[in-house]
Amino acid sequence: MARSGSKTKCIGILTSGGDCPGLNAAIRGVAKAAVNRYGMKVVGIHDGFRGLVENRTVALDDRNLSGILTVGGTILGTSRDKPHKMIIGGKKMDMTDAAIENILRHQIDCLVCLGGGGTQKNAYHLHTAGKINILTLPKTIDNDVAETDITFGFDTAMNIAAEAIDRLHTTATSHHRIIICEIMGHNSGWLTLGAGIAGGADVILIPEIPYDPRIVAEHLLTRRRSGKRFSIVAVAEGALSIAETHPLPDEDEDEKTDKHKNRKGKGEAEDGPLTAKNESGETYHLVQESKASRLARELQRLTGIEARVTSLGHVQRGGIPTPTDRLYSTLLGTRAAELLAEGTYNVMVAIKGQTCEPVPIERVAGKKKLVPIDHPWIISARLVGSCLGDR
Ligand code: F6P
Repeated sequence: MARSGSKTKCIGILTSGGDCPGLNAAIRGVAKAAVNRYGMKVVGIHDGFRGLVENRTVALDDRNLSGILTVGGTILGTSRDKPHKMIIGGKKMDMTDAAIENILRHQIDCLVCLGGGGTQKNAYHLHTAGKINILTLPKTIDNDVAETDITFGFDTAMNIAAEAIDRLHTTATSHHRIIICEIMGHNSGWLTLGAGIAGGADVILIPEIPYDPRIVAEHLLTRRRSGKRFSIVAVAEGALSIAETHPLPDEDEDEKTDKHKNRKGKGEAEDGPLTAKNESGETYHLVQESKASRLARELQRLTGIEARVTSLGHVQRGGIPTPTDRLYSTLLGTRAAELLAEGTYNVMVAIKGQTCEPVPIERVAGKKKLVPIDHPWIISARLVGSCLGDR
């Protein structure tokens, strides 16, 4: 039964950034509670901020919200577009005004944005540029959004990566090989560390701890000398050796990310360009030799042990969300609806212990939650004998 007196009459919902399991459960959580409990109108926006600028919407109600709890991806579609830096006809354009105009056109009282770090920044931009009310939820397999204990999507991805490590163990054992498993996570190590500990990886390399390949090689040789004839190395896509680490000059965050990606692909430029442009003129990164392949080559050279590579890639983002992610998504979504009903805006709903709490958006936008190097997970990984690539 719709309850009258909700301060919010109409919301827009969009999903932005890389997709992840649990997005549909979160959309369902927000929208079911908003429609059925609080009598709000819910406007679904296709393909993130691009759909908002292009005014591509769908009304969300019980008919399209049913049966999506366990479905991976996002029924709304997503994109990595930013309203203030959108590529249109090959040119970077500021489309903030168009985004704001469409929010007003639909009489949206608050725009609900489900996404990771980039989405938090984009939502905050709309709030500051156009006094638009926003509310965000923390989504990403990377678990790197500030001010929340956990992001939804992370648990599913960690399960997939840990299962992959389990499976790699049996084949590594049979062939007495080193197997290097590359795990996503952008520039943070949560996913690799969590899956590495859960899967019992012998070496865990994360961006927060620059590694020395000689220390890793020594660890692998020590294992071999002690009669252990295989090793599993879990390496984060953003991990860097000490030699690859050097301070970046002060620059725009996007450029920094591009430079970081290029740095990760260093050495492959002789085979061709690192980037290309898609149909709308947007720059994307060409398939490069992976972090894991370069590491495998180096470790094989240093140890003389045969090495193989598995890059998990987008498999980690696909498929059915775990029950834990469905639970988090639903709790966050329904809490968001409660906050909207009471007129609380310009917050991210965060998971803090057992509860979901609003955090002012300015405490989240532009921040990143990396793994602190004295984090209990790091201490625990060291205590069970995993090598983290440092002394
Ligand atoms: O942020 C989620 C994530 O999967 C990262 O772990 C990864 O670096 C990135 O997205 C990959 O992005 P795309 O799907 O655009 O290749």
